[in-house]
Amino acid sequence: MRARPERLDRLPEQYFTALLARVAAAAARDGETLVDLGRGNPDIGPPPHVIEALSATARRSDTHGYAPFAGLSALKEAIAARYRDVYGVDVDPEREVAVLPGSKTGLMEFAQVCAERGDAIVLPDPGYPDYRSAVALAAAQHVPLPLLPDARPDWDAAPRMAAALYLNYPSNPVAACAPDGVFEEALEWAHRAGAWVMHDFAYGDLVFDGRRPTSFLAVDGAREIGFELYSMSKSYGMAGWRLGFAVGNAEIVARIEDLQNHQFAGIFTAVQEAGIAALTGPQDTVEERRTLYEARRDRALARLAGHEARSEGTFFVWFRLPEGLTPERLLEEHRVAVAPGEGFGKQGRGWARLSLATADETLDRGLERLRGALGV
Ligand SMILES: Cc1ncc(COP(=O)(O)O)c(C=O)c1O
Repeated sequence: MRARPERLDRLPEQYFTALLARVAAAAARDGETLVDLGRGNPDIGPPPHVIEALSATARRSDTHGYAPFAGLSALKEAIAARYRDVYGVDVDPEREVAVLPGSKTGLMEFAQVCAERGDAIVLPDPGYPDYRSAVALAAAQHVPLPLLPDARPDWDAAPRMAAALYLNYPSNPVAACAPDGVFEEALEWAHRAGAWVMHDFAYGDLVFDGRRPTSFLAVDGAREIGFELYSMSKSYGMAGWRLGFAVGNAEIVARIEDLQNHQFAGIFTAVQEAGIAALTGPQDTVEERRTLYEARRDRALARLAGHEARSEGTFFVWFRLPEGLTPERLLEEHRVAVAPGEGFGKQGRGWARLSLATADETLDRGLERLRGALGV
């Protein structure tokens, strides 16, 4: 057998695949039923009118061929309308929007379309593990950028030159919203470093305590060198449907579409029509979902009171582990799974992420076990 191409061996261990396997192995062992607060998988699906749009479109005989590779114009117009009405940003739907099979695809594509082999790509630490996969696949060089306690990058630690910067607010895993001025600082650094900027807005609508969603594109000059990823997974509970967008810089949008024309053959029309229904129909479920996660966040922080834990948005809580208590011990001895912080980067060591995307009873049971383990 020929050896695997080096490209595959460059990829890091897939954090979530490995986590799920460890949790499944622990769950299979004898003992109390395991409580899984590790996985961030939305527990509530899309509203009925979205499901109806999917099934009505699937029942039509003219929707089963290849969809237009670049996506339906009406879908691009629908996301442009959301950006205008909710985030106060005007974008040209034809030139400044690419339709993606999930925003994860976009974050992988970004590295491919902006970096040459060996170029530096700057990633937040802690940050979403798949960014590292994107850098590895592009044979670029990963430069971690530590986040300060307020989740602002430590710009003094940023390199002088780089091809790209990944940013993510509200942040997975640290559950922080964008600190004031952080996008302006990012643009200033990126201009000096000659870097493109991608802002991952996957949790954009899930913000707490009266905060408003803050789009990177609302900052002057952002689209000159940057773009934003928007996901239908979290705001609309459509994670399994695989639909997202790259919005912003027209050159990056064109490059992503170019790559996708080679790699994919469009997205099932019924999924795109459902996306249009979600974006243009009643929006009450977006707020209901946000409120539900906020209530669960309140519950989690109340149960962990006295312990260092935070969440300003997303559906996660980021908390410190006391000396000697590891995620492995939580899993094996306390039968509760959380996502180990060090898997999100060196700065995550000694921390862990728990997910609020789980039924209230499961969350309560998990929190009780955590309280026992943390001694709160
Ligand atoms: C920070 C972040 N970005 C991107 C994604 C990918 O989202 P999707 O591909 O479902 O749009 C996720 C999914 O969990 C995420 O947590």
